[in-house]
Amino acid sequence: MTEPVTREMAERLMAAARLAAEHAYVPYSNFPVGAALLTSDGSIITGANIENASYPLSVCAERVTIGTAAAAGHRHIRAIAVTAPRVPVVTPCGGCRQVINEFRMPDGSISVILEGESEPEILSIDDLLPRSFGPRDLEN
Ligand code: THU
Repeated sequence: MTEPVTREMAERLMAAARLAAEHAYVPYSNFPVGAALLTSDGSIITGANIENASYPLSVCAERVTIGTAAAAGHRHIRAIAVTAPRVPVVTPCGGCRQVINEFRMPDGSISVILEGESEPEILSIDDLLPRSFGPRDLEN
């Protein structure tokens, strides 16, 4: 398995996610969320939640960020940090867990970094989405 990210990288990604949250477009919920991911080739890509007057069309920070990365050609996420400045800790919603799951590293790993009490907490996608359904299930 790919090593989980270093503490230093986790801090760096969380700092980038906090900055990204400043660009959230959240006139309806007033609940900004920021995300920052690290790709397999070392790129860092950020995003924030973008809401819409037609509420269900709002997009979570994780999905904005993953869509940006995928559209730039990235296919493997090594780690993703998520933060919501209004609460001590936010954890990805169920839909975003599934979208994160789509872009595992070739060995199946992805670290998910959440805010912790004194430093970011590093989890695995399998902690958040056990027994997941993903691309490999469609291989035959
Ligand atoms: N939100 C995210 O961006 N990510 C999550 O994982 C949880 C929820 C957003 C969606 C909506 O814009 C706002 O937070 C309130 O639900």
